[in-house]
Amino acid sequence: MVQLEPFQIEDWMDEWENKCEYNIAETCCSSISLNELQDLSENKTGLEIDRNQKLTYGAIRGSSPLRSNLAKLYSSKVSTPLPEDNILITNGAIAANHLVFYSLIGPGDHVVCHYPTYQQLYSVPASLGAEVDLWKAKAEAKWIPDIEDLKGLIKKNTKLLVLNNPNNPTGAVLPRSLLQQVIDLAQEHNLIILSDEVYRPAFHSIGPMDPEFPRSILSMGYDNAIATGSMSKAYALAGIRVGWIASRSRELVEKIAGTRHYTTISVSQLDEQVAAFALSYDTVHHLLSRNIQLAKTNLAILERFVIKFDDECEWVKPVAGTTAFVRFHREGKAVDSEKLCEAILEKAGVLFAPGRRCFGDEFPGYVRIGFVADTETLEKGLARLKVFMKKEFDEVPLAN
Ligand SMILES: Cc1ncc(COP(=O)(O)O)c(C=O)c1O
Repeated sequence: MVQLEPFQIEDWMDEWENKCEYNIAETCCSSISLNELQDLSENKTGLEIDRNQKLTYGAIRGSSPLRSNLAKLYSSKVSTPLPEDNILITNGAIAANHLVFYSLIGPGDHVVCHYPTYQQLYSVPASLGAEVDLWKAKAEAKWIPDIEDLKGLIKKNTKLLVLNNPNNPTGAVLPRSLLQQVIDLAQEHNLIILSDEVYRPAFHSIGPMDPEFPRSILSMGYDNAIATGSMSKAYALAGIRVGWIASRSRELVEKIAGTRHYTTISVSQLDEQVAAFALSYDTVHHLLSRNIQLAKTNLAILERFVIKFDDECEWVKPVAGTTAFVRFHREGKAVDSEKLCEAILEKAGVLFAPGRRCFGDEFPGYVRIGFVADTETLEKGLARLKVFMKKEFDEVPLAN
């Protein structure tokens, strides 16, 4: 039987997500309804469901409208467009990542994973028998990991390098120059790169004109790379459970497609139709500008809170994505973040995610805040938190 560590963040969310008053732990841009999606779009008929359509398995690898819209997103500003056949549709990025590991990784392989990150990205390869090392990012270096550390981790049997860009939970990005160094290293050692890009393109604090603006791993000229993505986060449509795997290497795509037959067959035709509409030319720009504007507005609100409580809170302000990793301390000493989150839930009704439990022992005072909730939820939740900070914070035990 496969030995899997408990998936801490998902356990935490499963336990509390629907029992809190203000959910500020969620990593999706505030989710939208079909009516809101329709209103955002210039196409007022494209979401209508053909009720006579037979509900077969549909297109096995994913519908052509969806895959071609995705291919266009990966093809802008690059000399070689990505063919739609190089994309496989999955049930969310969670299934996409799982399929990549399941298809490529086994005992005897060594995997290096960017850290901290979503636990799936290191626990699943370990469960498949691989040896896993973590490429650690540190707050002191603005959560940007050091290329020299990565060089020191590569072994003869290193097969896969896993990145998460933009990063959950820190909201940092791997800048373009660092990505290039990573690719040079991967090329030298013949490594496959998996880049989990589910928070792309939620770039709220860095613009495409910035020389360090990170491109997708598929636009960096290295074929031995896979990107995974999803409708859940930057596109605010987690409820349709649509994600994808894309690669410039047809060999990798075919290998994963073979495995996918065993786990997926196909993805819901109805979900694919909504995703294709959301990513169509008439809709996608409006949807993304709604979400990026929401992220900017909410980040400014959260920043005011962090500044107001700067004796107790510190952070590296996030650059992209939907999360901030905030350290709570008393006179520099980290508080117990799980006890802190439990107390905030009980006294203020606000849900955050505890850093040590969900992201590892190295993050005792850290709390992950999913700040791209709707603005009212964030404002009301932070108002409750202010009261908590004044009245109850001093009673939270320090981390041991
Ligand atoms: C880095 C990362 N990858 C993948 C996922 C899974 O997302 P989904 O399956 O909703 O696309 C998440 C969800 O939080 C995530 O943070």
